[in-house]
Amino acid sequence: MNNAMEGFMVHGGECIQGTARVEGAKNAVLPILAASILTEEEVVIRDCPALRDVQAMISMLKMLGCQCEMREGGLSIRSSALHNWEMPDEISKEIRSSIFLLGPILGRLRKATVTYPGGCEIGLRPIDLHLKGLRALGVNIRDRQGILLCDGGNMHAGDVYLDYPSVGATENVMMAAALLPGTTCIHNAAREPEIEDLECFINAMGGRVRGAGTQLIVIEGVKKLHGTCFTPMPDRIVAGTLLCAAAITGGEVTLENVRPRDLIAVEAKLAEMGCRLYDEKDRVHLKARETLQAFSSLQTQPHPGFPTDMQAQMMAVCAAARGTGVIVENVFENRFGHVSDLNRMGACIRVNGRVAVVQGVEKLRGCRVCARDLRGGAALVLAGLAAEGETLVENIRLIDRGYASLEKTLCRMGARMERITLS
Ligand code: UD1
Repeated sequence: MNNAMEGFMVHGGECIQGTARVEGAKNAVLPILAASILTEEEVVIRDCPALRDVQAMISMLKMLGCQCEMREGGLSIRSSALHNWEMPDEISKEIRSSIFLLGPILGRLRKATVTYPGGCEIGLRPIDLHLKGLRALGVNIRDRQGILLCDGGNMHAGDVYLDYPSVGATENVMMAAALLPGTTCIHNAAREPEIEDLECFINAMGGRVRGAGTQLIVIEGVKKLHGTCFTPMPDRIVAGTLLCAAAITGGEVTLENVRPRDLIAVEAKLAEMGCRLYDEKDRVHLKARETLQAFSSLQTQPHPGFPTDMQAQMMAVCAAARGTGVIVENVFENRFGHVSDLNRMGACIRVNGRVAVVQGVEKLRGCRVCARDLRGGAALVLAGLAAEGETLVENIRLIDRGYASLEKTLCRMGARMERITLS
């Protein structure tokens, strides 16, 4: 996918309205694709979103020897021929989600070699908790100049205590333990809904995992897992972003294929700002006021706290609201990359360490801006929708990591924007 030189041209001032269906969640699909190698039988993933990160994971699975094909019924993965336990150097460095393969490769082949993943746009993103968790299961890990040689010859079930409820570390340990004889307990596990989805997937393959969604996850290892057909949960961050698009433009939307219980924190903030929300079983409806009021404060936290993946988008909405809102980013150390571009668009945001003070302005104005990370890029698009004039968002390959053709979804809901090739 060569979209390094593409941008979004957003013509501001249109209301976002109408109905949209939300696709499968990126953060559920990535670990589920990785976990599919725990069985030799065919796994079919329905409603798999067409995202750059998903494509990258499929490429990695192919490099390991798996067959992956898009069929009518979904994405089919067969890993009976899985033979390679070495993740190619350049891929592991570039794509952070390659780390999700460590647990399942170890689970299946009892050895793995990966390169220490590099940092990314939102911070250092260390993997010490992943490695500590795997070591607690008896994996011997040696670091040879940035290459991690993992020997799972003596792997065993056991107790894993996570110093911090890391989403990725919780998922990696769950996958590594699924085929280990005995009982593994993950204490202080992350409680994100995507972890519950991974539990459902492993259990759909015949695994015995319980407790996901709580701080204690218990995995009874089984001898073998079997094939299955699975539909991942809907993307709560895409849903939240579309709600913000309606909120910032004074619009009214209905989202289908959502789970309102996953959106509680985001809906509460939007309601605090003056939006009216109405939940149904698998739909949510939002009607915005013409002028929104800034929330007083927003703190990102591990689930069920406010999701860090919605911080940038809520900042954009607050920047165009009346009053002043304070945002504290507690999860990542460097997740305010979007602030300078929002300020170039006329926003009034001051940052001090992990705290941002957002003073709402009457009008944002379009200009040329650049996505620096996935969600920050989405925030710039939202600001562009509400701004006067035209906003050119560059570097949208980062936005394509997590939104399937965002421009098409928003245009169907009344936006005027297009994907353009930049010279
Ligand atoms: C996942 C999500 C990401 C989301 C994040 C937090 C996926 C594919 N990505 O990322 O969208 O923003 O959860 O909800 O699901 N940490 C360590 N050591 C580790 C692991 C993490 O210090 O070994 C730190 C990180 O630097 C970060 C914090 O823990 O500051 C949270 O990270 P984590 O929960 O692991 O996030 P990811 O799994 O990387």
